[in-house]
Amino acid sequence: MAKDSFSDGDSKKGANLFKESEGNKIGPNLHGLFGRKTGQVEGFSYTDANKQKGIEWNQDTLFEYLENPKKYIPGTKMAFGGLKKAKDRNDLITYLKEETK
Ligand code: HEM
Repeated sequence: MAKDSFSDGDSKKGANLFKESEGNKIGPNLHGLFGRKTGQVEGFSYTDANKQKGIEWNQDTLFEYLENPKKYIPGTKMAFGGLKKAKDRNDLITYLKEETK
């Protein structure tokens, strides 16, 4: 199985990964994330780096971003080291797909 692109994972494991990170309390609201461009949540104070990334969030961009957020968006203030294991990212993104609808 290829490790360099998204494939469906286990959303229960993804839910745990998300809750453990605490990012849901500090970061922008992720409701409606899929299909949205970077930096669009009204009232959230983003860095210019995040706003100007200009890509659309989907399973593929999230798969790359969440491996190493500071590499994908140099200058982001998101304090998350990333998930190095492709399986963890698959689980997390599978969860996010459902949960952010
Ligand atoms: C599983 C963990 C996480 C996921 C899936 C996640 C997801 C995201 C995504 C997709 C964005 C970009 C949103 C957009 O462009 O509208 C973002 C931004 C952000 N997140 Fe996270 N995040 C996680 C963990 C964290 C953690 C642990 C923190 C802080 C303790 C955090 C704080 C932030 C902040 C402050 C931003 C805005 C960054 C900027 O303006 O440069 N996140 N997050």
